[in-house]
Amino acid sequence: MDFIPSKALYYCEMTRERELNSLHDSIRECKLCPLHTTRLNAVPGEGSYNAKLFFIGEAPGAREDESGRPFVGRSGELLTQMIESIGLTRDEVFITSVLKSRPPNNRTPAPSEIETCRPYVEQQIELIRPRVVVLLGGVAIAAMVGPWSVSESHGKFFEAKGRTYFMTYHPAAALRFPKVKTLMADDFKILKSELL
Ligand code: URA
Repeated sequence: MDFIPSKALYYCEMTRERELNSLHDSIRECKLCPLHTTRLNAVPGEGSYNAKLFFIGEAPGAREDESGRPFVGRSGELLTQMIESIGLTRDEVFITSVLKSRPPNNRTPAPSEIETCRPYVEQQIELIRPRVVVLLGGVAIAAMVGPWSVSESHGKFFEAKGRTYFMTYHPAAALRFPKVKTLMADDFKILKSELL
């Protein structure tokens, strides 16, 4: 069995944290697509670099654009409640979105914007190496695993690229439709059982 001295492990961890911070600095300065001309702040994401769960939403909204932080509006409140319902806090998971800049008027992300932003989320996942990547809604599901409908894929795990993905609804849909909120809460129970 390989033995990794604790000091070496400590330096590996420090490097991972530094790399993530430096990636986030690059995202904040990113000008790779035209969204940088309309956004107030890019929103890299936040949470633990040791997170077991890595949540991916669609794109920052108005509140996120103003603050530079992910999921701080009403959708964020619901996401935080769902995370807490499975015994975790926001600080213990990692939260981000497919796009790091707000599309004007919250329009759906364009395919070209998703492709331009994709390397950022890929690098975040590689650095954090979560147990499960949780895809919130159709845009995240289509961008990361395939063009599946949320209603058919929610509550299911999918293995690809050496990662475990889990699909559920976007909290904005759950805020709109009480039935979806119940389904999303049930999905989080499935997610919890996977983490035990
Ligand atoms: N919706 C998202 O998909 N991401 C955010 O950061 C906020 C709302």
